[in-house]
Amino acid sequence: MVHVCFVCLGNICRSPTGEAIFRHMVAEAGLEDRIGIDSAGTSGWHLEEAPDARATGFAGERGYELSGLSRQFVVDDLDRFDYVIAMDGQNRTDLLSLCRTDDDRQKISLMRDHEPEAGGEDVPDPFYGGDGGFQVVLDMCERACAGLLERIRAKHDLA
Ligand code: 4NP
Repeated sequence: MVHVCFVCLGNICRSPTGEAIFRHMVAEAGLEDRIGIDSAGTSGWHLEEAPDARATGFAGERGYELSGLSRQFVVDDLDRFDYVIAMDGQNRTDLLSLCRTDDDRQKISLMRDHEPEAGGEDVPDPFYGGDGGFQVVLDMCERACAGLLERIRAKHDLA
């Protein structure tokens, strides 16, 4: 089993969106029993809260169902997950500060590093912006999740 965790700041907008899209793609590929999926936040600001209603609404219009309650990413997660996907550079910096070993550090990547034609860029925080920001997050997460699934299938020999 390969374990993937999407991480943003609050775990109520971007990372639950990435989680839902990836879950959808993994299910369509029939790989639910091979790839485990979760999300978390670098902060504990929204602990136990449901995903943001705007994120849930716009994702729902595209057929994705946001799930779970906000939780904070903890050091032990580095033992449980093979891929830890940071939505922006600050999230990545915060995750790297938790890493104890090179093994840990190699698990961390940026979401958009998995998106063809992108790389090194942030999935922008939509929380204080308008509705368009949530569509941008969905567009980027759809492209990045497709790339991530390709990469994991190839690396782990998943048909
Ligand atoms: P997320 O969005 O990191 O994509 O879940 C945010 C949610 C809450 C806040 C910032 C970003 N906040 O400042 O409370």
